[in-house]
Amino acid sequence: MSRAVRFERYGAPEVLAVVEVQTPVPAADQVLLRVRAAGLNPFESKLRRGLFDGQIPVSFPAAQGTDVAGVVERVGEAVQTMAPGDEVFGASAGRGSHAELVLANPSQLLVRPPQLDWAVAGGLWTAASTAVATVEAVGVQAQDCVVVAGAAGGVGCLAAQLAVHHGAAVIGVASEKNHAWLRSRSIVPVAYGDGLEERVQAAAARAGGRPTALIDTVGHGYVELALELGIAPERIDTIADFDAAREHGVKADGQSALADIVAAVGQVAALIVAGAVELPVAATFTLERVREAYELLEASHPAGKIVLMP
Ligand SMILES: NC(=O)c1ccc[n+]([C@@H]2O[C@H](COP(=O)([O-])OP(=O)(O)OC[C@H]3O[C@@H](n4cnc5c(N)ncnc54)[C@H](OP(=O)(O)O)[C@@H]3O)[C@@H](O)[C@H]2O)c1
Repeated sequence: MSRAVRFERYGAPEVLAVVEVQTPVPAADQVLLRVRAAGLNPFESKLRRGLFDGQIPVSFPAAQGTDVAGVVERVGEAVQTMAPGDEVFGASAGRGSHAELVLANPSQLLVRPPQLDWAVAGGLWTAASTAVATVEAVGVQAQDCVVVAGAAGGVGCLAAQLAVHHGAAVIGVASEKNHAWLRSRSIVPVAYGDGLEERVQAAAARAGGRPTALIDTVGHGYVELALELGIAPERIDTIADFDAAREHGVKADGQSALADIVAAVGQVAALIVAGAVELPVAATFTLERVREAYELLEASHPAGKIVLMP
């Protein structure tokens, strides 16, 4: 037996419990990981609250978590690329990384470089791949001025830094408590709220031009803002407002738009190891404190990732 997070009905974080479950047995082509770190993503909250009821099948008791970093505990008989003791990161097979032990497919795992912190490795899969997808979607180039909405969030902080890495001027929309961090990563911070459009235009003018692309990780009118700023629809990407994407014909490319998710995650991990990109870890929690972890994710907006460390 081992411990894992489960919920028996849709609801707020209070429906989450850590329970004893049968330790999963790897299929021939799977590995069993002892979880060292497993990131939280807003998708998990939305799923648990029942927002995808009827669209994404959920059977109770249901598990949470996809992002994972851990140590290979057992390998299926057909697995030849990994062995017990290997340190890896990536995605769990299906949901369930918020646990002591979880199954994974070797094709969705990367070897953890020793310089890559466990908590960072455990929070990378979704945010890194999605950030790469958004930057590719708007085709960031060195001469661009890119606006990133939600620039201190898990996806946004990586997308903004990747755009900087491409040589673009980057304006990051975030609350003021995150502005110092954005400046430290060469991102021009702009606070959201009344007068946002004027502040973005002024920041772009100071950078020598006007906004040429916008990556929206928030929703709530950023697609419309981008159009008002004169950005071409094909240079606007939202991962949070699919109605606006349909209505205005802008892009809605996220992780699933990528041809090779593993390569994208590996690319970001290499940049982190090289010091060119940072993934801040806002907070870590033990498995037992999973409710607090999701309450933090859902109530406030800490910069970077929240990670469970069983
Ligand atoms: N389609 C996909 O493939 C895909 C993949 C991953 C995520 N997503 C979606 O993308 C969204 C972001 O995910 P995430 O993991 O980055 O979430 P996150 O880490 O919770 O970050 C969200 C950020 O939004 C900022 N924010 C809140 N209100 C804002 C506003 N009005 N203007 C600007 N920024 C605001 C917050 O920062 P402040 O502290 O600065 O307020 C927070 O850091 C979620 O809806 C998620 O479901 C989609």
